[in-house]
Amino acid sequence: MSSASVTLEKIVALCKRRGFVFPAAEIYGGLNGIYDFGPLGVLLKENIKKAWLQSLCNDKGEVVQLDGSLLGSHAMWTASGHTENFHDPMVDCLNCKHRYRSDHVDLKKACPHCGKLQWTEPRNFNMMFQTHLGAAADQAALAYLRPETAQSVFVNFKQVISTSRVKIPFGIAQVGKAFRNEITPRQFLFRMREFEQMELEWFCTPEQANDFFHFWQEKRLAFYATIGLQKENIRIHKHEGHELSHYSKQTHDVEYQFPFGWKELEGIADRGDFDLSQHTKHSGKELAVYDEATKQSYTPHVVECSVGVDRLFLALFSEAYKEDTMDGELRTVLALNPRIAPIKAAFLPLTKKQTDKMIALYHTIQQHTSYAVQFDESGSIGKRYRRQDEIGTPFCITYDFESDTDQCVTIRHRDTAQQERIAIEQITTYLAQYIQ
Ligand code: GAP
Repeated sequence: MSSASVTLEKIVALCKRRGFVFPAAEIYGGLNGIYDFGPLGVLLKENIKKAWLQSLCNDKGEVVQLDGSLLGSHAMWTASGHTENFHDPMVDCLNCKHRYRSDHVDLKKACPHCGKLQWTEPRNFNMMFQTHLGAAADQAALAYLRPETAQSVFVNFKQVISTSRVKIPFGIAQVGKAFRNEITPRQFLFRMREFEQMELEWFCTPEQANDFFHFWQEKRLAFYATIGLQKENIRIHKHEGHELSHYSKQTHDVEYQFPFGWKELEGIADRGDFDLSQHTKHSGKELAVYDEATKQSYTPHVVECSVGVDRLFLALFSEAYKEDTMDGELRTVLALNPRIAPIKAAFLPLTKKQTDKMIALYHTIQQHTSYAVQFDESGSIGKRYRRQDEIGTPFCITYDFESDTDQCVTIRHRDTAQQERIAIEQITTYLAQYIQ
């Protein structure tokens, strides 16, 4: 199988054709930078999130979870530095009125849309979506949709520590939506206006921060290897001073080689005590902790690992998309790691006569496992195999003419198309060994 021919266009088309991702409310023309996830997209995202949470287990400290609100007050987002610093530079073409991020175009050259060289001066554009709570339109009612999940963790830090019996070092993990009014959303799930983040905020002493920064970088790289991203498609980019976000002391991006080039997949940042100190200052509430050993209070430092669910979805798709020729036909295969694949196994009866037996078997497996399986009886067996290959199903199970007598089924492997016979009572154990 070859992945040489993968393009973003092919990925977008497959996502739509098979019900992974649709343009948002497409019957009304869609919304730029916003997408809806179909049945298979939901399953794939669930598997990504589950694998991410599992990957946070470690022997240094506990990780607990939080689910913070999407809307936050003006005061909170001012304390975090976002009302002042969370912006991108933009320019407009005076001729055709197209708007660009000024770092995405060469201002010495003509507008890529109309070919005229008439730019406005670059100016800053704050990327937070603003709204007002209730009927009042004054400053006190001003609220923002969160542009990152992290701030809910910092403002709840004291509540978590006093209710969960966690001790430093420990982490708070959060998976949830974030919103950014990107000037130029592009490359499908890569740069969206509404997306999901998986963020770990790891609290430690100031002395431990640098070691944990490297500890977590290694853990994150190991995670990507276990879910199927090839080593040669992953690299680390160290931020130079001018690239650092307003909160960061040091940042390393995990970059992935997407079909459109090397781009940030995840950011690993040493945020120092920036966030807890800012919220202490602005709220007047003390967020320092007391160290029994030194009998002193200190503000914990934070190491953050932050990755977009959707961006990782796109990386996994880019890695898994393959084409080969089988029986003289072009075959598209989504060679996803079985742990991540949305459907783990498909049950395909060979003839109408075997349908009832196959449905019974499919229901039994469904009841005894926690993962998604499918039943499919429509079309030739070749067509059904192709359909499952294209959505990444690692195993297709057929009940055939001999199954009644030998109580065995045939399992076909997606990537090699090789088949083997196994006892019906072994199916769940067989699948589990690949999926877990
Ligand atoms: N809390 C730190 C933070 O939000 P970031 O580098 O702005 O840092 C972290 O974002 C991750 O979130 C990125 O590495 C990327 O995976 C994802 N992400 C950011 N903006 C995105 C967007 N517009 N669309 C999709 N994913 C995005």
